[in-house]
Amino acid sequence: QIAAKYLYTDSQTVKAIIKPRKKFANKGNFGHALMMAGSYGMIGAAVLSTRACLRSGVGKVTVYAPKCGYEILQTSIPEAMCLPNESVDSLEKLPELEAYQAVGIGCGIGTEPETVALVEELLKNIKVPIVIDADALNIIAADKKRLKLLPENAILTPHPKEFQRLIGTNWENDYEKLKILSVFAADYKCIVCLKGAFTAIALPDGTIHFNSTGNAGMAKGGSGDVLTGMILALLAQGYAPQEAAILGVYEHGLAGDRAAQIKSPTSMIASDIIENIKF
Ligand code: APR
Ligand code: MG
Repeated sequence: QIAAKYLYTDSQTVKAIIKPRKKFANKGNFGHALMMAGSYGMIGAAVLSTRACLRSGVGKVTVYAPKCGYEILQTSIPEAMCLPNESVDSLEKLPELEAYQAVGIGCGIGTEPETVALVEELLKNIKVPIVIDADALNIIAADKKRLKLLPENAILTPHPKEFQRLIGTNWENDYEKLKILSVFAADYKCIVCLKGAFTAIALPDGTIHFNSTGNAGMAKGGSGDVLTGMILALLAQGYAPQEAAILGVYEHGLAGDRAAQIKSPTSMIASDIIENIKF
């Protein structure tokens, strides 16, 4: 039985986490991230997550995407490298992972059988920090045996529906929700960012860290993809997974708050969050 300890992330918390960029640094000091994202009709998710990754301090990003995304990605994000897979429409087959310091998977990948196999292969072979989002979470939820494949300290970024699918049940009230969240993170030794207003981040030690930034203007398609890219960038730079989760969620909300000030909560879109990322 875990008595969840609750904490609150504010500007002082993140100040203590952020590492300054050194004067004589080169891009090799900031890691090479691999973003596995996109499928036919959802290449936008790959674009948003990859661009957010680039805005968050990483040295290099390669995006692994289906062939139909190649021209789109190369044209819209010249800073990123694109590694297209064999399939035209969906993600399949695990690429070589040796070159990368961190991997992100899930944004807009769909749930085709080949993609399901890819997610399983990745979980079995990954040796670097990972952030898992969206359909990669749905794929894990579709067969609960896959939960056992979760690497230690993996970062999961479900919205409430995705988390309900992972646990296979619903909660009666917020107190029960937080208890389930805390126990899940402890059981699977992973980090779960349960998204929404005051995103709750549960760590393997059972503590829950509530985020203080963000606004309802972020309740729009694509906002979550931005968060995945930001967290991936922090992992690739060598932030410890729990730091990457807490810092990433905070800065994502802060960027959303800046975007809301400029565009208004109603009119801002996910791309505006990216343009207002400022570490
Ligand atoms: N206040 C503050 N933050 C909010 C609020 C709110 N009221 N509503 C949403 N957010 C933030 C969340 O904390 C989260 O970071 O916006 C983000 C929304 O993320 P997702 O729910 O994953 O939304 P989305 O970007 O549309 O996901 C893309 O992947 O998860 C799937 O089904 C999803 O198809 C969709 C795709
Ligand atoms: Mg999402």
